[in-house]
Amino acid sequence: DEARPAKGLTVTITAGPTREPLDPVRYLSNHSSGKMGYALAEAAAALGATVHLISGPVSLATPSGVNRLDVTSANEMAEAAYRLAAQSDVFIGCAAVADYRAANVSEHKIKKTANSDELKLTLVKNPDIIAEVAKHRAGALRPFMVGFAAETRDVEAYARDKLTRKGLDMIVANDVSLAGLGFGADHNAALLLWPSADEAGQALGRRALPAQSKATLATAILDCLLERLEQADAT
Ligand code: C5P
Repeated sequence: DEARPAKGLTVTITAGPTREPLDPVRYLSNHSSGKMGYALAEAAAALGATVHLISGPVSLATPSGVNRLDVTSANEMAEAAYRLAAQSDVFIGCAAVADYRAANVSEHKIKKTANSDELKLTLVKNPDIIAEVAKHRAGALRPFMVGFAAETRDVEAYARDKLTRKGLDMIVANDVSLAGLGFGADHNAALLLWPSADEAGQALGRRALPAQSKATLATAILDCLLERLEQADAT
């Protein structure tokens, strides 16, 4: 079935930002729109995959045929990711997970103090969700792991480092400093990198995808991913 090359595959995708509460009315977060993750979910469903979309708070409609699970904090996203990864063939970490959360969430609204101009927050590291999935599901049950690297400089070098350090099978790198691309935009360009020992001694395979809509970029990323997956299955 050429039009549905992902038929039979279960794909779990994280998307959007996470929100880390400080007190009942405040949180730390970031500008992720979730558009790239949602485009990937829509494209994967169109290619015939069963898709689980673990979504942080975004204002996007659920793509048709996609199972959406809403979460708020990184810890909630991690819990859902660990559970769904165990039943997935492919895991794509597209979420902009907050690196830190408040060490203590205040039960009541934090009040301004009259006698000090400073407020100190103590933050603790959140779990690196994709790295944990890549690590814990080692063996036959480990999904094919795809990460994203949004960078503002030295894109390829930082992406290579993330690919190796997080134990991923493929990374999608993009330069978010380019005008009109990346965060919040409808268009994006990407550099795909994956470990490959065979290509004339090259340690990495690479494919550059030019600036295009996030919808067509999502399909191009999945095309490459399915090729890699086929090759991984063959070896
Ligand atoms: O934030 P960073 O650049 O390290 O993100 C790279 C990749 O790791 C992305 O795929 C992102 O979704 C994932 N990530 C994660 N959990 C984190 C931080 C990042 O899954 N706490």
